[in-house]
Amino acid sequence: MKNSISAMLSLFQILVFSVFALATARSAADDKFLKCLSVHSKMTIPVYTPSNSSYTSVLQLPIKDLRFLNATTPKPKFIIAPVHESHVQAAVICCRKHGLQIRVRSGGHDFEGLSYTSHVPFVLVDIADLKSININLKDGTAWVGAGATVGQLLYKIAEKSQSHGFPAGLCATVGVGGHFSGGAYGNLNRKYGLSADNIIDATIVNVNGKILNRKTMGENLFWAIRGGGGASFGVILSWKIKLVPVPPTVTVFRLLRTIEQGVTDLVHKWQYIANKFHEDLHLRLSIRKLNASPGVKQTVRVSFVALFLGKSEQLLQIMNQSYPELGLQPKDCIEMPWIQSVPYFAGFPPNTSLQVQEMNPFRIYFKGKSDYVVQPISKTGLEGIWKALLEVNNTAMAFIPHGGRMSRIPETEIPFPHRSDKMYLVEYFTSWAEAGSEAANMNVDWTRKLYNYMTPHVSKSPRAQYVNYRDLDLGQVKVGTATYAQAKVWGIKYFKNNFDRLVKVKSKVDPQNFFRNEQSIPPVQL
Ligand SMILES: Cc1cc2nc3c(=O)[nH]c(=O)nc-3n(C[C@H](O)[C@H](O)[C@H](O)COP(=O)(O)OP(=O)(O)OC[C@H]3O[C@@H](n4cnc5c(N)ncnc54)[C@H](O)[C@@H]3O)c2cc1C
Ligand SMILES: *[C@@H]1O[C@H](CO)[C@@H](O)[C@H](O)[C@H]1NC(C)=O
Ligand SMILES: *[C@@H]1O[C@H](CO)[C@@H](O)[C@H](O)[C@H]1NC(C)=O
Ligand SMILES: *[C@@H]1O[C@H](CO)[C@@H](O)[C@H](O)[C@H]1NC(C)=O
Ligand SMILES: *[C@@H]1O[C@H](CO)[C@@H](O)[C@H](O)[C@H]1NC(C)=O
Ligand SMILES: *[C@@H]1O[C@H](CO)[C@@H](O)[C@H](O)[C@H]1NC(C)=O
Repeated sequence: MKNSISAMLSLFQILVFSVFALATARSAADDKFLKCLSVHSKMTIPVYTPSNSSYTSVLQLPIKDLRFLNATTPKPKFIIAPVHESHVQAAVICCRKHGLQIRVRSGGHDFEGLSYTSHVPFVLVDIADLKSININLKDGTAWVGAGATVGQLLYKIAEKSQSHGFPAGLCATVGVGGHFSGGAYGNLNRKYGLSADNIIDATIVNVNGKILNRKTMGENLFWAIRGGGGASFGVILSWKIKLVPVPPTVTVFRLLRTIEQGVTDLVHKWQYIANKFHEDLHLRLSIRKLNASPGVKQTVRVSFVALFLGKSEQLLQIMNQSYPELGLQPKDCIEMPWIQSVPYFAGFPPNTSLQVQEMNPFRIYFKGKSDYVVQPISKTGLEGIWKALLEVNNTAMAFIPHGGRMSRIPETEIPFPHRSDKMYLVEYFTSWAEAGSEAANMNVDWTRKLYNYMTPHVSKSPRAQYVNYRDLDLGQVKVGTATYAQAKVWGIKYFKNNFDRLVKVKSKVDPQNFFRNEQSIPPVQL
């Protein structure tokens, strides 16, 4: 008895000792890492450890999808918040030296939270403070820090000039670091293409901690980061962009039509014209379920939302000629300076300031997916979509027209390959109010079911997807060490034949696969 007690005691001591040893070992490693950072930077680097009282808010504030903000979500060992480019260099050098994975976050909009979660010990490098914007109106260019948001960029341009703009996404808080590196479309896509189509230089910290620009990184890497996703190749510090001309007055409208108001015929017709209109016109559809209200049964409602780069008179003529069925009236058209169309398209009143948009960031439990349509969907096919939308609450889709400049750029120009063969992009989107609720399961299942339903109606071999609408349902490797065959499953959906060139660039610039995530490009000698 006594023996067994003392045996238990010593077992207990061993346990306590080893837990203690583990804890001190870990913190000694932590100290070495922190020391490494200070050695590699002349200035103090802002680093947050989990015991820092600001750690949680620094980690969580930029998170847009609440699915990835809970107790079980893996958290970073450290958060580094660079205020100088050398801090990024130190972060790369020291993470590599100490065997820590790196996750880079700019605006935090990733659809699967890959910019701030990982299944292996990792360091979050949040570059939101690297956001300086320098505009040069003389040559119509700008340098923009990768931590800047789309809103910061567009408002800064508008402050300097009413006749310049830039094609980018619609949500002011999206970060240009992730957004531009995945392509980035918005309502100027038919006129000017993607953001990535208008990038003319960039700076990046490579795997050795060196800062490279277009000239020193070479054309292959410069090609890869304009649409291939930044996360596989390095940490992008800044982009040089070519500004585009916008007229002093643009016209917008938003018309709402339900099933009962003949929306099936209208959407059917839209498919034949939206990618062929005058390219000054972008007319997108945003489609959602409307719940029943007293005296009204539930239905599907489509918003026809347009940006026209000109005055309403000409827009009315175009619509009357090509799409009289929609019945656009002069009173539906709102003329405004281009910058006011930015909040309008993000769902705010036209004159909403950037500050107000930033104070109401998009933050919700959500799941999204994408597809591309290459031939008009039949009316019966569309009716099947409406039926699916009605099954679950908080379901929505968007149809985004291509054509115009999108179709004239060759598929191989940048990694984003969805060009002349694509009529429009489909976005699936659903949200719910409570973590892990029945609605959560129902809504995520709904996206998968609708995606299956859409199989005969969308692009095939490969069934194309948009990399900025990242979707882990397509496949993933948790530690980020996918083989070529594994990565090709999602890679050709996002990049078509450009996938192989991305693999070649990756194997050249990061052969050890330091920059990796669940869907990164694998380094393989092809
Ligand atoms: C509300 C909302 C609206 C959206 N609207 C549009 C739209 O209109 N048009 C459109 O095209 N897309 C849109 N998107 C998708 C958006 O383009 C992508 O989610 C994009 O990747 C977000 O970039 P981020 O910097 O905000 O995200 P993050 O989550 O910070 O990053 C996304 C990915 O890029 C990597 N990354 C970020 N910064 C860097 C860097 N500096 N260097 C290297 N890698 C980096 C991250 O590691 C991660 O893999 C929208 C998304 C949301 C949630
Ligand atoms: C938390 O970390 C930040 C950034 O390094 C630092 O400025 C701050 O003093 C730390 N706060 C505490 C309470 O240690
Ligand atoms: C918590 O986060 C993880 C990802 O980190 C996610 O898989 C899981 O669904 C989330 N749980 C809830 C209840 O939202
Ligand atoms: C629309 O076009 C028709 C001819 O095609 C013309 O008769 C009509 O007046 C036009 N309506 C408007 C509002 O321009
Ligand atoms: C925006 O504000 C300006 C100045 O306050 C005003 O003249 C204009 O009518 C407003 N525009 C819209 C579309 O509300
Ligand atoms: C959808 O929302 C409505 C109104 O809030 C509610 O009555 C209904 O039960 C919900 N349906 C489902 C499937 O959750």
